[in-house]
Amino acid sequence: MDELSVLFCRPMAGYAGHDRFEREADVVDWMELDAHVIGAELVVEDEPERALEDVPEGGGRTFLYRGVILSEEQYEGLYEAVLDRGDTLVVDPAQYAGALYVPEYHPSFADVSPPTRWTFGTDLDDAWEAARELGEPPWLIKDHVKSAKEHWHEACYIPAGASRDDFDRVATRLIELHGDRFERGFVIRKFLQLATTGVRTVDRRIPDEHRLFFWRGELVAHSPYHEVGEPLTDTAPFEALGTRVDSPFFTIDIALLERGGWVVVELNDGGISGLPEQLDPHELYRALVGRSGRGY
Ligand SMILES: Nc1ncnc2c1ncn2[C@@H]1O[C@H](COP(=O)(O)OP(=O)(O)O)[C@@H](O)[C@H]1O
Ligand SMILES: [Mg+2]
Repeated sequence: MDELSVLFCRPMAGYAGHDRFEREADVVDWMELDAHVIGAELVVEDEPERALEDVPEGGGRTFLYRGVILSEEQYEGLYEAVLDRGDTLVVDPAQYAGALYVPEYHPSFADVSPPTRWTFGTDLDDAWEAARELGEPPWLIKDHVKSAKEHWHEACYIPAGASRDDFDRVATRLIELHGDRFERGFVIRKFLQLATTGVRTVDRRIPDEHRLFFWRGELVAHSPYHEVGEPLTDTAPFEALGTRVDSPFFTIDIALLERGGWVVVELNDGGISGLPEQLDPHELYRALVGRSGRGY
């Protein structure tokens, strides 16, 4: 298998290396991996060729993408531009979308996920109708990729007893907050009582959630998702989940339930998945590189 190179796609506005990729970029340097940085703004503005201008043409390198969330179309643009230069990205565009958009992966995970409905577009009647199929609230609402969880009560959580007006207010606020990054349509899910870590913020109790990294079908790293919480002691129930997705690099976030058991909260492409605070970047990169032709 080819040696792995890393393609960081980081926001360049005010760039000083201080963003969510800083920690792992340091580790990648320390490990002396071949790594390059491109400007996220150009990729998002559909100018991937310009973004790649300063990256030396490698002739057959395989790049691990680590960067901002791109739409399927933006990722495809970058993928093609990388190919034109004689290199490739580990994850192809169909695989990228397959682990990013809820309607793409939910059918393969319905048995281990909260009951879920989705719509296309921003029509509130459609969204309400879809939500009603879940029974009574509480519900959680997001677009096909992201929630506005930082605005929990305003734009994410629909409490028990919510009226149609309440629903419309939250859905409208989500559209406003996501602006032109609103992805495709609404996703509405039945809200389940997650087990908690015992720590709470002003908005909510921090749930016992975990991010699992899968590389070529294998669970290679995991960590509590939040800054608080203990690591999973038994990963056996989750290892087989890796075979449900056709992508070489993706993450699955799972949460423990208050009533016992667990659910899949969401999937993400591995390249855009943030490394939880508690996950040592060495651990992840050693696992990826060690399985890609260079020993560590
Ligand atoms: N169905 C659900 N029931 C209870 N809590 C949920 C549910 N779905 C998501 N959450 C909580 O909301 C958070 C944000 O949801 P998530 O789907 O991960 O959105 P995002 O894409 O913005 O990360 C999750 O980390 C989890 O704590
Ligand atoms: Mg999430």
